[in-house]
Amino acid sequence: MPAIEVFIPESQIQARIAELGAQISADYAGQTVVLVGVLKGSFMFMADLCRQITVPVRLDFIGTKSYEGTTTTGQVQLTKDLDRAIEDEHVVIVEDIIDTGLTLSYLKLLFAQRGPASLKVAAFLDKPSRRRVQVEGDYVGFTIEDKFVIGYGLDYDQRYRNLKDVCVMVG
Ligand code: IMP
Repeated sequence: MPAIEVFIPESQIQARIAELGAQISADYAGQTVVLVGVLKGSFMFMADLCRQITVPVRLDFIGTKSYEGTTTTGQVQLTKDLDRAIEDEHVVIVEDIIDTGLTLSYLKLLFAQRGPASLKVAAFLDKPSRRRVQVEGDYVGFTIEDKFVIGYGLDYDQRYRNLKDVCVMVG
């Protein structure tokens, strides 16, 4: 078993998500927001973020796959589509992390073709140094250096998603 070190503690995560929720609530005052969680990594961020948003929300999820172990395959595959149409809706894509940017640019293009009223991105983490395509989050929790992180929804080979903190493997 590799040793694990806390990188972003739970308390800091929760404080930052409260700020993001307040910002989204202010930006969408008087409107309904459709939060689209990108499975599986965003499930914990989605659960905490949606509870910090005070405007009406509808939740949906989309499934993508691009990683095997710690390596991106460079190809994004859809494993689950949305349950409902997003035409004329105010959509916020909820991502665990923007790494190469391939997933997000794929989803932004896909969703833009479906005629939403607006389309924004909330990303829990951002690793800008790893970008292969230029794409940015509108609401970003933490910008981090080039480290492979686990916990708080993020996995290494489908493990560690349940950790309350964002962690790194050491040794
Ligand atoms: P992309 O490279 O920006 O397309 O990111 C695709 C997906 O890879 C993210 O949504 C994460 O699920 C996963 N990913 C990227 N970096 C990490 C990491 O450091 N730890 C765990 N998963 C990651």
